[in-house]
Amino acid sequence: MANIQKQIEQLRAEIRHHDVLYYVQNAPEITDQQYDKLFAELKQLETKHPELITPDSPTQRVSEQPVAGFETVPHAVPMLSIDNTYNEDELRKFDERVAKGLESPRYDYTVEPKIDGLAISLRYENGHLTRAATRGDGSRGDNVTSNIRTIRAIPLSLEGKDIPEVLEVRGEVYMPKKAFTELNAAKVEAGEPEFANPRNAAAGSLKLLDARVTATRKLAFFAYSLGQVSTPLADTHYDALEKLRNFGLPVNEAKKAKDINKVMAICHDWQHRKDKFAYQIDGMVIKVNRYDQHDVLGTTGRAPKWCIAYKFPAEQAETILESITVQVGKNGTLTPVANLKPVQLAGTTVKRATLHNFDQLERLDARCGDTVIIEKAGEIIPQVVDVIVKQRDLFESKPFEIPTQCPTCGGGVQKDENGVYLRCVNPNCIAQLKERLEYFVGKGQMDIDKLGPALIEQLVDKELVKNFADIYKLRFDQLVQLERMADKSAANVMDSIEASKARPLWRLVAALGIRNVGGQSAQILSDEFGALDKLMAATAEQLTAIDQIGPVMAESVYEYLHDQDNIKIINKMLDAGVIPAPPKQKASNVLEGMTIVVTGTLKNHTRQQIEQMIKDHGGKTSSSVSKKTALLVAGENAGSKLDKANQLGIEVITEAKFMERVTSP
Ligand code: IVH
Repeated sequence: MANIQKQIEQLRAEIRHHDVLYYVQNAPEITDQQYDKLFAELKQLETKHPELITPDSPTQRVSEQPVAGFETVPHAVPMLSIDNTYNEDELRKFDERVAKGLESPRYDYTVEPKIDGLAISLRYENGHLTRAATRGDGSRGDNVTSNIRTIRAIPLSLEGKDIPEVLEVRGEVYMPKKAFTELNAAKVEAGEPEFANPRNAAAGSLKLLDARVTATRKLAFFAYSLGQVSTPLADTHYDALEKLRNFGLPVNEAKKAKDINKVMAICHDWQHRKDKFAYQIDGMVIKVNRYDQHDVLGTTGRAPKWCIAYKFPAEQAETILESITVQVGKNGTLTPVANLKPVQLAGTTVKRATLHNFDQLERLDARCGDTVIIEKAGEIIPQVVDVIVKQRDLFESKPFEIPTQCPTCGGGVQKDENGVYLRCVNPNCIAQLKERLEYFVGKGQMDIDKLGPALIEQLVDKELVKNFADIYKLRFDQLVQLERMADKSAANVMDSIEASKARPLWRLVAALGIRNVGGQSAQILSDEFGALDKLMAATAEQLTAIDQIGPVMAESVYEYLHDQDNIKIINKMLDAGVIPAPPKQKASNVLEGMTIVVTGTLKNHTRQQIEQMIKDHGGKTSSSVSKKTALLVAGENAGSKLDKANQLGIEVITEAKFMERVTSP
């Protein structure tokens, strides 16, 4: 046993070491596959020896148990905002105020990038992450610990020497540009609204009640300041950042500047390079370096007087709108897209820009041939923001005609229920079918990777595939005759279709492309019903009664699963051998019918882990003790809940006893 414990600890240390190399030092030494292998090894050992699992094991980042809501928690030191400046003049005025406030010319600055995400306060006690909270109103924020734990860039425990007993680290949680683009592409495919910018995407991902979903969002983190600290880390901000880096926290590049001229030069340098970074920077943050001088300068209540942001102006470009095409989405939504004369904007060549919807197009009155101004929304997605009407050829130019028919199938169009989007209402529209099939085979759904868009195009055009079920009837001899197909590639396609037959139920539910239902909702539905026939038989009331499934989604699901054509196609898929794997089974029924409360400080598990085990073994959890409570699992320093349980004569057990019950029933 001691041997296995050692092996487990070694693997954990190794994984943490590689996390630091990857996230803090930006210098990974192993490939993702090698990392995954270490992780799988650890996971395997821990599955065999659950008693050796600790809350800060890298395998324990994701809590399986969604929370009902976030509690608000106080900040020991308020989280202030910072004032903004937009030009050199304003920045120099800030410097004059600093000089005056300090009554001395002897001060210097630290200059660092301003990351566009959301501020978080991480509380480490004795080096262990105990709590994470959003800024909220500055004095109280939301407790988002279970979601923060899923961010691999954030260490669950700190490394190195002289770690203060209490250390609150503040910084920015952000979504890298690539993750943002991928997330929005998946949202569009799922028929869900896109995030306007990476900041909203990061905030939205952190406010999810289910940490399993947050874990898929590829969030990252940079530390940039301190809250409550039991022993001062350093005399200057610059040195404190260095300390944080040595504790294994990701800290962005920071520069020292001896005066405001140097500050300006650093700001300009970053402004030129800003598009080269993997994350979005919307300016620079300038801080007086010495902490004793922070105290002298003080705050205005809202913002400190020793700190200022220098914001970069939004970049725009002018170009010609060559044409407008109308795209048809998988649920029939028509979207106008501007095709542009290629132009450079914020680091990329832009050829297309979104016009969002026809209302927006009418408001702008954008016409083919117009000179238009484009800007990157959230600095990522190019959009047309203005038309230079003066430069329009008044004789030639005419307003864009809003389609009254689907551009692909010629079918009728209608405004959707929100009155914003136009939709093609022909259920047999070929453009929609292709989009739906592409979504069905997509990575987040049935993951039939060898069935790409070009092949789908051919299969639909040749009428070999008219619905999802037809995919499972395809034969080798049909595939091999298609363009760019040979024996090997056709066999690969067949294998990849075959492999998809046993995908988990939630993937199949997601793949159906039901309006308003993305991967997250599909998982909830799959967990709730456990089998496809049960979901198909669900009444509207049963669907609405599920936590996290709103009435609009419940209606979409009910309608979809009660449509005769859809039912036929689903049944044909099942006939063709699609057997969706049911969600994970319960581990046992030893806690069946019991409502259990967990309280106090636990030694070897987090509360979420214990609560998950309760569920896995058939029990229910509750946060308050009442007559209905069957059992109280009490850690150290249990307070009022323990008293109440004793009063009511409810059985109280320790964490260790609880583990015995579930591991050796
Ligand atoms: S310092 C009291 N440094 O920008 C000083 N903030 O617009 C605390 N931000 O609330 C903030 N990068 O969420 C600081 N390097 C950086 C930053 C940064 C991004 C955010 C932070 C702040 C907001 C103000």
